[in-house]
Amino acid sequence: DATDKGEFRHYMLKEIYEQPKVIAACLEGRISETKVLTSCFGADSAFLKDIDNIHIVACGTSYHAGMVAKYWIEELANIPCTVEVASEYRYRKVAVPKNTLFLTLSQSGETADTLAALRMAKELNYLTTLAICNVPSSTLVRESDLTLLTNAGAEIGVASTKAFTTQLTALLITSIAIASEKGELNEKKQAGLVTALRSLPAYVDAAIKQDEAIKLVSEQFANKHNALFLGRGPMFPIALEGALKLKEISYIHAEAYPAGELKHGPLALVDETMPIITVAPNNQMLDKLKSNLQEVRARGGELYVFGAKETGFEEAEGIYYNEVPWVEEVLEPIVHTIPLQLLSYHVAVVKGTDVDQPRNLAKSVTVE
Ligand code: G6P
Repeated sequence: DATDKGEFRHYMLKEIYEQPKVIAACLEGRISETKVLTSCFGADSAFLKDIDNIHIVACGTSYHAGMVAKYWIEELANIPCTVEVASEYRYRKVAVPKNTLFLTLSQSGETADTLAALRMAKELNYLTTLAICNVPSSTLVRESDLTLLTNAGAEIGVASTKAFTTQLTALLITSIAIASEKGELNEKKQAGLVTALRSLPAYVDAAIKQDEAIKLVSEQFANKHNALFLGRGPMFPIALEGALKLKEISYIHAEAYPAGELKHGPLALVDETMPIITVAPNNQMLDKLKSNLQEVRARGGELYVFGAKETGFEEAEGIYYNEVPWVEEVLEPIVHTIPLQLLSYHVAVVKGTDVDQPRNLAKSVTVE
């Protein structure tokens, strides 16, 4: 029952722990042993092979999910993809290339700016409109041509957690489906991706098992006033989402930067009082990320590294290290989200803020 916190102190923690289950629910009926079932987009999935361009529009955490999807869509389907916040999109002249899919992301399906963007898009020359949404009865679902539900169940904590990781799951399904229909993904590669997706609930479960260790780390944060999150590639939007979570519920000023941009400004902020949080998967960008982190350490910044196995990070003076389970590269953004959710949760608990109902924020912003 969504309105029952059960054994948990807050809805947010309950919703973090529900993620393996709801990600499984999001995958249910959408994949076979070897491929994505295009029927999940409705009876007529012919639009998939006609897509030559994608415009993603969303707000808040949903916008961050869209930013991750851009990496997947361009990598897997080789289709140009732009991502924009709805409050900007709705007030400008938008150029729409031929055969562009308009894709909205929303937990609630009631966000005023996202709805206004959809209504505007319907007057433009889009191929079709698709909503990835958590609430089946929402206005966004009603007004979009097509829907893919995230099936996360009711989310009550204002800070979005399970809605985000199920959006990512739905977006990966969508990216694979488009890539396959566009002839960009051979059967073997698709089967590999689907096998990885099947393991996703177990990976997320393993990441949640770090809860106690992350709780210990969080105690260091209670007296901080600022934090800097760094990530590269699809981990940049995950860093943005980590910073947003920390701001929302613990009221610590947090920013996120693509690690390579550090030298273009934020490095000036780094001293012993500035914690730097980074998610470090074991991929081809690892060495570059490590050299960015050395620059931080050299200036006295404390490092909090959530790294994958065999990334070679170790605890040392000024370096806190927490291991994230190994996963296939395509799933890294989803699994590496978990430690950042747990970190912001525990920091907020230590600070004694109202975790589920942070000041000045609403679960769904239905007026402009
Ligand atoms: C509010 C919520 C956020 C959410 C954003 C977009 O700001 O507090 O958690 O990400 O709205 O909401 P949506 O329902 O459209 O995803």
